[in-house]
Amino acid sequence: METLMIAGGRPLKGTVTISGAKNSAVALVPAAILAETPVTLDNLPDLSDVAIYTELLTELGAVVSRTADQMTVDPTSLRSVPLPNGNVKKLRASYYLMGALLGRFGEAVIGLPGGCNFEPRPIDQHIKGFEALGARVTNEGGAIHIRASRLTGAKIYLDVVSVGATINIMLAAARAKGVTIIENAAKEPEIIDVATLLNSMGAQIKGVGTETIRIEGVDSLHGCRHSIIPDRIQAGTYMIAAAATRGDVIVDNVIPKHMEAVTAKLLEMGVQITEMDEAIRVVGRPDYEPVDVKALVYPGFATDIQSPMASLLTQANGVSILTDYVYSNRFKYVPELIRMGANIRLEGRSAVIQGGTPLSAAKVTATDLRAGAALVIAGLTVGGGVTEVSGVEFIDRGYDNLVSNLSMLGAEIWRQG
Ligand code: EPZ
Repeated sequence: METLMIAGGRPLKGTVTISGAKNSAVALVPAAILAETPVTLDNLPDLSDVAIYTELLTELGAVVSRTADQMTVDPTSLRSVPLPNGNVKKLRASYYLMGALLGRFGEAVIGLPGGCNFEPRPIDQHIKGFEALGARVTNEGGAIHIRASRLTGAKIYLDVVSVGATINIMLAAARAKGVTIIENAAKEPEIIDVATLLNSMGAQIKGVGTETIRIEGVDSLHGCRHSIIPDRIQAGTYMIAAAATRGDVIVDNVIPKHMEAVTAKLLEMGVQITEMDEAIRVVGRPDYEPVDVKALVYPGFATDIQSPMASLLTQANGVSILTDYVYSNRFKYVPELIRMGANIRLEGRSAVIQGGTPLSAAKVTATDLRAGAALVIAGLTVGGGVTEVSGVEFIDRGYDNLVSNLSMLGAEIWRQG
C-alpha cells in the first residue's frame, strides 16, 4: 500500500488549478452511452474512477478514446453485456450503468457497487425509480437484474434526497415514453451538469437544480461535446488547506457560487477570502474563531468537505461542532486525527472539536477518499516531523495531481512505497 509522506509547517503559496468534477465525470461517462453517435467530454479529471469507467464502457463494446483531459465515447457498437462482477465493484458510481443501460436497452445486469465504505450506502431509491418507470428489478447473487419491455414516464417522489438516485432516474427516463416527474430531487451542481449533457444530446429535461425535475422522454439521443464543471469538492479542499497552513493561495477554475457554503464558514472563522470571476483567493491568519458546521444537501455545506474542515477546526481557538446530516457515521477519520493530537469527541452525528491543540506528526491511515484529504491537511499543518498517510489509493480516486499540486504550492510531500 502506497504512503504519502508530509513534512508540514510550510504555508501554501501560489495558484492551483482545479480539474473537472469527479462526481460529474462518473455520471457523464455512462450517460454518453445513451447517445447513438459519439460524445466528447472535455475537462475530464485524471482519476482512477474515470479509468475504471473507460474499461467498463469498453467491456460494453463502446470505443473509448482518451487524450489528456478529453474522452470520446463512440457507442455505435454498444451492446448490453451483463456486468455482475469485476470493475463494477471497484467504484460506487458504477450504479449509473443501471440507469444508462436500462434507458438504452431496457435491461441491465450490474453487480452491487463498491466504493467508499464509511457506511452502508443503499440504492433503494434508485430501484424505486426504475420500478416506477415499469422495470422489474431483482437482486440475483449480488447483482441487480433490471428488465423493462417499455419504459413509461411516471411521477416519482424520492423518500431521501439522493444525488445518485436523481441522476440514475434521469438517465433511465430520458428515452422513456411520456413524462417523468422527480419530486424531492437533489440539487447538486453535478446533477445540473448531467442534465446539461443530456439536453445537448437532445433530451427534454427541465427544473434541474430545483426539487422538481420534469423529463419528457424522446425516442433517441445524439452525440455532442460537453465540458465538465470544476470540482467544487476539490476546490473546497484546497481552500481549507490554504487556511490551515496560514498560506496565500489562488484556487483557479472554480465557480464561486458552488463554493458559497465553504466560503461563508471560512469567513466566519476569520480567513480572508477574495472572490474573482473564476477563482477564489484564500489568505490564512494566525488566529481563527471556532464555528459550527452542518453538512447538508446542496446548497448546504457539502458532506464531502466536512472531514477536511474538521482538520482546520482543530486549529481554531475554541470549541466547534461539526454535524453531518447526510451520513450518520462519516467520522472514521477522527481516531486518526486524535492520533495526531487532536481533541475531538464524537456525539451521535456530531464531532465536538476542541481547537487550539497543536497537532504532531504520526503514522495515520486513510479510511476513505475524503478522510484521506483530512489527514493530508492535518499533516500539512504540522511543523517538525513527517506525517505518513497510508491508503493513498483512496485519495487518488478523488484528487488528481495532489502531490504535484501541493508541491507547486510549496508543500514538502512525496509518495513512498
Ligand atoms: C454522491 O453519493 C457522491 N458520490 C458522494 O461523494 C456524496 O457524499 C453524496 O452524493 C452526498 O452528496 C458521487 O456523486 C459519485 P446520495 P450518492 O444518494 O449519490 C441515502 C465522494 O467523496 N440514500 O446523495 O451515493 C444515503 O445512504 C463521494 O466524492 C438512501 O437511503 O449519495 C445517504 O445517507 C462520497 N437510499 C443519503 O441518502 C438510496 O437509494 C445521500 O446519499 C440512495 C441514498
